[in-house]
Amino acid sequence: MTHEVPSVRLSSGQDMPIIGIGTSRALGDDAKVAVNAALECGYRLIDTSYIYQNEAAIGEVLKEWFAGGRLKREDLFITSKLPMIGNREKDVSKFLQKSLNMLGLTYVDLYLIHCPGGFIGKDDNDIKPKDEEGNTVLDFETNLEGIWRGMEAQVDAGRAKSIGISNFNSKQLDRIVKVGRIKPANQQVEVHAYHMQRDMRAVCDKHGITVCAFYPLGAPYLEIRTEEHPPLVEHPLVAKIASQRGKTTAQILLRHLIQHGLIVIPKSVRVERVKKNFQVFDFELSAEEMAQLDTLNRDGAVRMFTCDFYKGFERHPEYPF
Ligand SMILES: NC(=O)c1ccc[n+]([C@@H]2O[C@H](COP(=O)([O-])OP(=O)(O)OC[C@H]3O[C@@H](n4cnc5c(N)ncnc54)[C@H](OP(=O)(O)O)[C@@H]3O)[C@@H](O)[C@H]2O)c1
Repeated sequence: MTHEVPSVRLSSGQDMPIIGIGTSRALGDDAKVAVNAALECGYRLIDTSYIYQNEAAIGEVLKEWFAGGRLKREDLFITSKLPMIGNREKDVSKFLQKSLNMLGLTYVDLYLIHCPGGFIGKDDNDIKPKDEEGNTVLDFETNLEGIWRGMEAQVDAGRAKSIGISNFNSKQLDRIVKVGRIKPANQQVEVHAYHMQRDMRAVCDKHGITVCAFYPLGAPYLEIRTEEHPPLVEHPLVAKIASQRGKTTAQILLRHLIQHGLIVIPKSVRVERVKKNFQVFDFELSAEEMAQLDTLNRDGAVRMFTCDFYKGFERHPEYPF
């Protein structure tokens, strides 16, 4: 599989492409355009989640590619994630099966626990449950070790080839490694030039867990803009290297992470960007360029993802940030 895209070997024995298409906030036709464009130009990793609400749209695209004989299931690497309202041992099968039904697949290549804290939804569609005050309805009984047993059962049942975690802090990760019969194959966390997660990457390295970088372009849509920290795609240093190389700033940012051994999943719903973001294998940053880009790291100080859109989540005992 994935002959043309470089990949990393997971502890499960599977090969995971080192670049994939991110799909959060890409709904309906946007998701279809993005995934179609991605498959056209050679991406073989698709990153989705139950909470992105685009698995059915992605499933439609996959169905067309399979029906036309352009790709076989084994050519692709599909990642999905357990929603926070499913963070219970007994609920893992149900939510993975729902994702599989929408994707039109019998297995995912990688299934992740999307985030360590659990929520209580009114029903399976209530992915962001709120009380009258707008606070997130938290499940204070969340048991990470139990959820992991539920995840392992998915491998046993053949519904997931590999399993992993996302947004876990190092203590939570250690707990899973300690009790797990199957080790997490991958941890998906926020990583970009401002937030290189050196400590977390070292912990993952120690345990043979690969790391997938979300927000690899620094999530420019968040418009976190200060004089000291402009959006990474506009940063003067990145722009300087990009212009010297005849590359885009996004290509420089992605290449920087790839050369640090990370898997990257940039999101775009614009065909031209989807194509360009994939063109990162025809050049190599020099040691000097890598060192310059490394100076942008403010580990911890420019963290953008704290789940603050889930009001009151920080009261959960497993809140990871
Ligand atoms: N596990 C988790 O909790 C978690 C959290 C966040 C994200 N993720 C995953 O990681 C993926 C990537 O994260 P993200 O989408 O939030 O951030 P990102 O990939 O860093 O940035 C995506 C944003 O950058 C824009 N963009 C794309 N290519 C560009 C380019 N070449 N030049 C300038 N702007 C460009 C996109 O806009 P257009 O679409 O308009 O091009 C989009 O708004 C997600 O899609 C999702 O699959 C996972």
